[in-house]
Amino acid sequence: QRLDLDLAAIEKSGYEHFMLKEIFEQPQTIFDSFRGRLDVEQAMLTLSGLDAIKDKLLAARRIIIVACGTSWHAGLLAEYLIEELCRVNVEVEYASEFRYRNPIIDENDVIIAVSQSGETADTLVALENAKKQGATIFGIVNVVGSSIARMADAGAYTHAGPEIGVASTKAFTAQLVVLELFALKLAQMKGTASPERLRQLIAALHAVPEQVQWILDNQLDNIKRIATKYKDARDFLFLGRGYNFPIALEGALKLKEISYIHAEGYPAAEMKHGPIALVDEHLPVVFVATQDPFYEKVVSNMQEIKARKGRLIAVVSEGDEMAEQLAEDVITVPKSDELISPLLAVVPLQLLSYYVGIELQVDVDKPRNLAKSVTVE
Ligand code: G6P
Repeated sequence: QRLDLDLAAIEKSGYEHFMLKEIFEQPQTIFDSFRGRLDVEQAMLTLSGLDAIKDKLLAARRIIIVACGTSWHAGLLAEYLIEELCRVNVEVEYASEFRYRNPIIDENDVIIAVSQSGETADTLVALENAKKQGATIFGIVNVVGSSIARMADAGAYTHAGPEIGVASTKAFTAQLVVLELFALKLAQMKGTASPERLRQLIAALHAVPEQVQWILDNQLDNIKRIATKYKDARDFLFLGRGYNFPIALEGALKLKEISYIHAEGYPAAEMKHGPIALVDEHLPVVFVATQDPFYEKVVSNMQEIKARKGRLIAVVSEGDEMAEQLAEDVITVPKSDELISPLLAVVPLQLLSYYVGIELQVDVDKPRNLAKSVTVE
């Protein structure tokens, strides 16, 4: 038993939990997921899996993304990215619904499967069904040689390395990187984004590992303090618009998985259609409010929460004074392009749930009732 304990400690490389280790690995894993695929100087993208299905992709009337859990959130962000950059219809589906609802699929459809484990039963069966109907499957998978990786027609591994913590962290950011690369490469092939725009986005993506490191180096104490302050809340609300909406969903999912606090993610404007009824002086409301074209709108949503005495916590871009005045607590992330900044904004939310979970003495690496990979229905 002594040996087991020592081995576990070695595997955690000095971190108290796998979850924290995996959050801290992200500057490296994000780099690994674009290494060899991104040439900043030449503005070149290499994703050989995508070349393999090039004709199908260029002819596709739509792209369907199929996933579960955190991977589904990565898929939702990819819908925004691919539609914006590649001007093709994208649908995002929960695998469990998609497999049973008799969807209309044919050989013109390309399906992107997003899965950390590559073994999620619902995702696997949904893909098998779609493949039988003629669809082309592109897998974005972390575990090499897994079932989904093997059944896909083509794909790209995320290269995040083994993820042990049940709640996904580094696998999620790696999925986002690969989906960004997919969107950029397809836009380049289709000519739907200007070379200048692609160059900007490639440079922004390339800067992410260093920017994530900045968050880890500069925001940790702030996030710990916020976690201690709000740990006794009964509910949490996470709000964001546009590219930050999937991040709000992921922030809420992470918190409920790791702390057992009830949390909901919503599009910021949609809160008026329900969640605003929950707002009182006890409710922490986390806004993902980095700089983007919706920023002013998000600020007015913040004012609405403040007028109802909600406890405002804002994740903002460096130098944002407006949010500082409005929010009770502010978490800062470096400035980035609006299409790339979700990769930064999610990191403080992972840390927030980790530290709330620790405060509440939850077994953060193995929260109750959850499985790393759901291989049965
Ligand atoms: C489980 C895990 C989640 C994961 C989801 C999908 O619920 O706890 O972290 O996001 O399955 O798993 P996959 O391996 O397909 O990404």
